[in-house]
Amino acid sequence: MTFVRLALACTLLALGPQVVLSFNTISFSAVEQCGNFSVHFSGGKLPASLPLTLTVVPFNLTPISIAISTYTWDPSKLTGAAVTFLPFAVDTRFVASLDDANGVGTGNVSEILQIDPSSNTSCLPMNYQSVAERYQVATPFSQCQDFDVTYDPSIVDTPPAVRAFVPKGPSVFLNQDVTASSTGTASYNMAVSQGEQVVLTFSDDTGFHQASDLLTVGGNASSSASCLPNSQSSAMSNQNSSPQSPGSSTNSGLSK
Ligand SMILES: *[C@@H]1O[C@H](CO)[C@@H](O)[C@H](O)[C@H]1NC(C)=O
Ligand SMILES: *[C@@H]1O[C@H](CO)[C@@H](O)[C@H](O)[C@H]1NC(C)=O
Ligand SMILES: *[C@@H]1O[C@H](CO)[C@@H](O)[C@H](O)[C@H]1NC(C)=O
Ligand SMILES: *[C@@H]1O[C@H](CO)[C@@H](O)[C@H](O)[C@H]1NC(C)=O
Repeated sequence: MTFVRLALACTLLALGPQVVLSFNTISFSAVEQCGNFSVHFSGGKLPASLPLTLTVVPFNLTPISIAISTYTWDPSKLTGAAVTFLPFAVDTRFVASLDDANGVGTGNVSEILQIDPSSNTSCLPMNYQSVAERYQVATPFSQCQDFDVTYDPSIVDTPPAVRAFVPKGPSVFLNQDVTASSTGTASYNMAVSQGEQVVLTFSDDTGFHQASDLLTVGGNASSSASCLPNSQSSAMSNQNSSPQSPGSSTNSGLSK
């Protein structure tokens, strides 16, 4: 993972933009508890940085990242697919993003998905419910405004990378205020449009990962839009963040 983090940090610093936009369409299947979860992608091209990585963000739980080492890609039809499974219990709500090897989205985030019932529990970790919350996010937050993330500075020495996932929309790493110190508070700019729903992930250099609940971006038509991707002034923003990709889960992987 150290390699992946370094590669990711270098890529983002060098390129600025955060979406590879390799594929035109990405669709995710429905999923039963411990059942297959498949992703189909078409149009465009494979990203330069492989393997493909599926980042799955369950609300208020621990996000996971699964390297998709086995997938199909037909370069003449421009279609591909992969199958994996998710170690999440029935009713868990989540979003997923098909990323390149650096953890940068290759297209839009999924809609909000939910684990359907099944009698199969073999994929569930035994300590499933015990999720420590290391980061607290100050809500409400608004479009293009800074918001605080707080933590215990005796546990965390470097503020986390924060990535915002908009269901059926983009995912972006949020700019961290460069003046963030060791006081236990870091501020980030909410580069998502007002009215959108968003789930945040926090990833730090200890390998810890946490997802927020589904939250709504505040603001109104008068809010500053300078941070939004379609604003020219922000085309090269996000150079201050140092993202880490969520850790690979030992409890998940490709099914047979
Ligand atoms: C239960 O789920 C596991 C992991 O997803 C899978 O390998 C296994 O085949 C499933 N068992 C049944 C009976 O479907
Ligand atoms: C799950 O996916 C595997 C691998 O693609 C496939 O062999 C298996 O038949 C699938 N199981 C179900 C229940 O669809
Ligand atoms: C991706 O999301 C953006 C913003 O929500 C939307 O405008 C665009 O149509 C989406 N693209 C696809 C291929 O769904
Ligand atoms: C937008 O929000 C600001 C801050 O809450 C408020 O002062 C302003 O009146 C609002 N403008 C509109 C058009 O609602």
